[in-house]
Amino acid sequence: MPTQNRRQFLKFLGASCASFPFISRSLIASGSPHKRIPSISSTFEDDLILAPGFSYSPLVTWNQSISAFDRFGFNCDYTAFTPLDKNRGILWTNHEYINPLFIHGNSSGPKTKNQVQQEMYNMGGSLVELVRENDKAEWKINPNSNYNRRITALTEIPFANQVSISGKKSAIGMVANCAGGVTPWGNILTCEENYDGFHGERKKDGSKLSGDHQWEKYYDFPPEHYGWVVEVNPKTGEAKKHTSLGRFCHECATTTYDAFGNLVVYSGDDTVDEFLYKFISNDKTSLDKGTLYVANIDKGEWVSLDINSSKKLKSRFKNQLDVQINCREAGRLVGATPLDRPEDIEIHPITGDVFVCLSNNKPKKNYHGSILKISESKTNPLKFQSETFIPGGDDFSCPDNLTFDKKGNIWLCCDISGKSIGKSKYKKFGNNGLFFIPTVGENAGEVYQIASAPKDAELTGVTISPDQKTLFLSVQHPGELSKTINDLTSNWPSNKNGDIPKPTVVQIKGPLLK
Ligand code: FEO
Ligand code: CA
Ligand code: CA
Repeated sequence: MPTQNRRQFLKFLGASCASFPFISRSLIASGSPHKRIPSISSTFEDDLILAPGFSYSPLVTWNQSISAFDRFGFNCDYTAFTPLDKNRGILWTNHEYINPLFIHGNSSGPKTKNQVQQEMYNMGGSLVELVRENDKAEWKINPNSNYNRRITALTEIPFANQVSISGKKSAIGMVANCAGGVTPWGNILTCEENYDGFHGERKKDGSKLSGDHQWEKYYDFPPEHYGWVVEVNPKTGEAKKHTSLGRFCHECATTTYDAFGNLVVYSGDDTVDEFLYKFISNDKTSLDKGTLYVANIDKGEWVSLDINSSKKLKSRFKNQLDVQINCREAGRLVGATPLDRPEDIEIHPITGDVFVCLSNNKPKKNYHGSILKISESKTNPLKFQSETFIPGGDDFSCPDNLTFDKKGNIWLCCDISGKSIGKSKYKKFGNNGLFFIPTVGENAGEVYQIASAPKDAELTGVTISPDQKTLFLSVQHPGELSKTINDLTSNWPSNKNGDIPKPTVVQIKGPLLK
């Protein structure tokens, strides 16, 4: 690790002790039980390569039947695991976007309605029950479970609080579901990110910009129905879209209770120079009502987006729903700080600090991004301090998703875009990877590469089972740069020449998972 990173890291540990006196220094100094952490070097191999001692097996693959009625969708992203008992659980998976070449083969011409419907079916999310014989055995799908179901881009989903948008109290479908979160009461939060690619966007003059996928030819839905956080009950599939959490390219929705006992949700807008948001709920067991804030990083303040709190908001917007629909413009009006594509957010399980992946900002020549650490004030819920926890560019580039294990180690997935992998500034990083960064013990602050993705893929949706023994990981968009079915850039997961690549959720076991 470069000296600079190490110094910042030690500062992080020091600050943690000061702010959390209940964490003894001896705990922090006691050392990791994993003194020799296995790792790999970057590689361009078309396979899921793992560090020594780790193994994986595919759990569920695109187009696999999950029930008598449904199939697993395309481009698996965020995953969440709901335990039912020791050896049973429900796995949620987002299906972020589609690749027409693999869905129906028509990647350039005008699409038929049936082709658009196939694309819409392959997006949204999946619920599947997982079972295992014992805690050493692998998880398998229970194909007969009543929990197995799909939510797609054609499923009707009501807005929370009976809110009406463009004359409707419900939206048809959810799209571009990227990352997410889990509420304290066990519901899944799944976030609509690049919705404009599917249902377009409303321009200021009221006209509509088209999406990239020709869906409007057959399904002309209001763009304002997309770009929300969707709450799903994993046991029933019941869903609602939360207008209270604002509308933008939501990467994730990370919930926690703050030092004052408030239920809060953090979410980033993954677009260059967009913002970081925090929602403080009115209630401890519901996200229906509350106040949305946006981060002014320079001042260390959460700035209210309540229309009644600002003359500027009041003069520009008709009502609170108008603010929520147009969060970006509202954030800019109240002085929010533009960020380098805020992606996934996680809370450190020991210190409570908020870790935000900032992917990159190429227009500003920031090619490798960083992980931002926010330490909330313990005396004022609207104040915080922040600093770069670790910059990209040395050991990893373009941080996207992360999770903490119970010991406070970071498991980080990176997403160098397919077109950049292997090119100039990105060459040394090889294919996209999964990285392990201890935050306690003698290896604290070191970065270890645990996995390397197949060609063109990103590793995402990293979830660790409650017993810490299985790591679920989405291998998204392998072979994405394939121009034709006869000229594939990847054959993963079968690795057989000529087989089309398939987005797949895998389960990983290994020495750091005990
Ligand atoms: Fe869908 Fe920001 O990654
Ligand atoms: Ca992502
Ligand atoms: Ca991404």
